[in-house]
Amino acid sequence: KPPRRPRGEPLGFSAVPVGRGAEVVVPPEYAVSVILPWGEPITGSYPRYLDGGLNSGADQEQQVGMHHDGMHFFPLQKAPPFKQGMGLLVMNHEYIDQAALHADGPVDSGGRRDPGQVRKEIAAHGVSVVEIRRRRDTWETVRGRYNRRITGATPMEIAGPARGHRLLRTAYSPEGTRTRGTLNNCAHGHTPWRTYLTCEENWAGYFVNRGERPREHARYGVATSAGRYGWETVEPRFDATALGDDPALDYRNEPNHFGWIVEIDPFDPDSTPVKRTALGRFAHEGLVFAQPRPGQRLVAYMGDDAQNEYVYRFVSRDSYVPGSASGALLDHGTLYVARFADDGSGEWRPLDIGDPGFAAAAAAAGVRFEDQADVLVNTRLAADVAGATPMDRAEWGAVDPRTGEVYFTLTNNSSRSAGDVDGPNPRGPNAYGHVIRFMERGDWLRFDWDVFLLSGPEHDSLGPDGAPLGVDAIHASPDGLWFDAHGLLWIQTDMSGSQLGSGPFGNNQMLVADPASGAIKRFLVGPPGCEVTGVVTTPDSRTMFVNIQHPAESGGGGWPGGMLKPRSATLVVTRRDGGVVGT
Ligand code: FEO
Ligand code: CA
Ligand code: CA
Ligand code: CA
Repeated sequence: KPPRRPRGEPLGFSAVPVGRGAEVVVPPEYAVSVILPWGEPITGSYPRYLDGGLNSGADQEQQVGMHHDGMHFFPLQKAPPFKQGMGLLVMNHEYIDQAALHADGPVDSGGRRDPGQVRKEIAAHGVSVVEIRRRRDTWETVRGRYNRRITGATPMEIAGPARGHRLLRTAYSPEGTRTRGTLNNCAHGHTPWRTYLTCEENWAGYFVNRGERPREHARYGVATSAGRYGWETVEPRFDATALGDDPALDYRNEPNHFGWIVEIDPFDPDSTPVKRTALGRFAHEGLVFAQPRPGQRLVAYMGDDAQNEYVYRFVSRDSYVPGSASGALLDHGTLYVARFADDGSGEWRPLDIGDPGFAAAAAAAGVRFEDQADVLVNTRLAADVAGATPMDRAEWGAVDPRTGEVYFTLTNNSSRSAGDVDGPNPRGPNAYGHVIRFMERGDWLRFDWDVFLLSGPEHDSLGPDGAPLGVDAIHASPDGLWFDAHGLLWIQTDMSGSQLGSGPFGNNQMLVADPASGAIKRFLVGPPGCEVTGVVTTPDSRTMFVNIQHPAESGGGGWPGGMLKPRSATLVVTRRDGGVVGT
């Protein structure tokens, strides 16, 4: 285990200034290089990347996907000592930019999308599993046996309480037990048994229902006139409109197969990914476990990233036993939603049809759930009923390895009015976002919370030390959040629109905060138009991987390397002296 950072030690790097430069900037003590750009071949026949959007859908199925997001690094060995310099990098591909993906943008003839383009778009979504190894100052792709693409079309199992429920039955799976693909995979999680969790966030808009939308569509925003990319014009499963009695065309329940967390075993390329329904159905940003304790239940925290949605917690029914734990632990347990009180306390309310308090609240609200599967398919509605606290868009969570405190970014909320602020969401409208922190009480039913950081410019912010942010730390729209092994908190931003284009914050960035000292400093600035999202280090903390999503969005040239099409990619960041990153 790497040594822990002494409490209160100053952050040992030179802050990176706000910037709008064309290239990634890291502190002068650091080096940065680029690996795994969109389109790099990683499996199958390794089709070469062709600039200008010229690869086919079949090629894309064997190449790194688009719009890199959450990721995790798995050493090849099960336990320490880890052989340094090799491992699996597993990452999400959240969505696509059609203008960059295709030579001349999206093609639509007579109201029908080009089928070849749709195949490529579906293949550019999902997850990449790539074996990589260190080579001198950077890392390179290994053409090894673990490499795999999981896409919007990969066959998957459905597990947990909603498996086989009538609301999950489709023409593809009349039993309601199987589905195809994962979509809009934003952040992620990883389990103590070395699997990867990918989280389905803004999936609802990929589907259309032109008829009367049931609550499990309407509450999530399934589109009413056309799907986000028009895939329903080629693939009937994206059209959830009731089309009569032909069971072969019955995809009314297809949107109910999305909004889950999907477990992937990166060490078994033949394994079938599994949607774990006990973790609830919403716009899942990510999942982070509390430090697992042998013989105790597993505890995980999750955010629903949409305006005025909620923060959730899952507690497993069964105990965590190292060596024998598996994904089945995620199939049985209790899903809770957070209710914050303005006095700094909070409580977890169970979304459990067998809980008398929940059942009474549902009855009082006039809401009927058939069974626990119905509760889970309609998680948002269940949380409404339970009296959850609407939040300013919960993005990533992170757990402090030293204290067990749980942190969540709340990225912003333009819809919160000035008259509608509360303790945990103190600004309305919330243009800049903030980071909240909470600590479980001994009974694990209540918690104490505070605001760790109010993001924003110098005149409208509050740092972890209680003072406004200085020039080396101003930022807005915090999103990615990750604790390293030394207790440093890495914060990534997802500014967009005028905040990104003309605000005082420059390009999107990554900062480091030390909760022990209250220090916070900017560590990295990305290229124009990008979001900085996804961060992890190798177990020795000497290589950091960071994702650059949608560089050059809304114009601005082809990062990296000035090609015709911009490419999301992974950064390799190391200290020039080979030391531990961040300290
Ligand atoms: Fe995909 Fe909530 O960011
Ligand atoms: Ca995000
Ligand atoms: Ca975001
Ligand atoms: Ca983005």
